[in-house]
Amino acid sequence: MRITILTGAGISAESGLATFRASDGLWENHRIEDVATSEGFTKDPTLVHAFYNMRRKAALDAVPNAAHLALMRLEGHHDVTLVTQNVDDLHERAGSRDVIHMHGALNRALCAACGHDWPAPIVMTPEDLCPACRQPTTRPDIVWFGEMPYHLERIWQALEESELFVAIGTSGNVYPAAGFAQHAGRRGATCLELNLDSSMNADDFDRQILGPASETVPRWVGDLC
Ligand code: APR
Repeated sequence: MRITILTGAGISAESGLATFRASDGLWENHRIEDVATSEGFTKDPTLVHAFYNMRRKAALDAVPNAAHLALMRLEGHHDVTLVTQNVDDLHERAGSRDVIHMHGALNRALCAACGHDWPAPIVMTPEDLCPACRQPTTRPDIVWFGEMPYHLERIWQALEESELFVAIGTSGNVYPAAGFAQHAGRRGATCLELNLDSSMNADDFDRQILGPASETVPRWVGDLC
């Protein structure tokens, strides 16, 4: 079966990584405009690098949980397109091979001047030079608010060809990802939500399974493999 999966911060929560909109979430302790926009980066690159250095270190210290591992198992039995909004590499470290990071990745760096990208050092600073153009214009390779997510053409294509669309651990707050269920459903896919709480776009799903991902995802995968 052709399945497209979208994961959000909730799948990494039980690996110890903060989500965004929970009461203790990242956006409760940092202003989005300060740390997740290109304007914020221009204004204070040191603050923005410090925010992503903290998240990069947390991601390195985290380990994949049973939900990440279950999705890797699913890939061995079905034609799975795995799209993540997450910037950690827990899917890869669980063994998933072709993960589509639509919001970028903490372990990648990008040059704001020439567009070159390369493996990010654990700690980035505004003084770092781009390996290609040697300018001090390096930034985290993260898609900030107001910027175009990566790989959208490939994602829309997968949504249109899938029999099943599954959203895991995402609140449905941010487009275009929050529109994926409607897009897939209009083309005949069944849409399933696995979440701890109901998302903002719960009405776009045919079925919902609520609970922690480390329990709901392995159980759901077990029914398919
Ligand atoms: N198991 C399953 N789901 C969980 C768990 C868990 N253990 N813990 C939390 N969740 C769910 C919450 O109920 C919520 O629906 O994960 C979701 C997290 O929502 P957000 O914090 O909004 O994260 P996400 O949906 O990934 O945000 C999308 O917004 O800020 C931008 O770029 C950022 O990629 C991010 C995007």
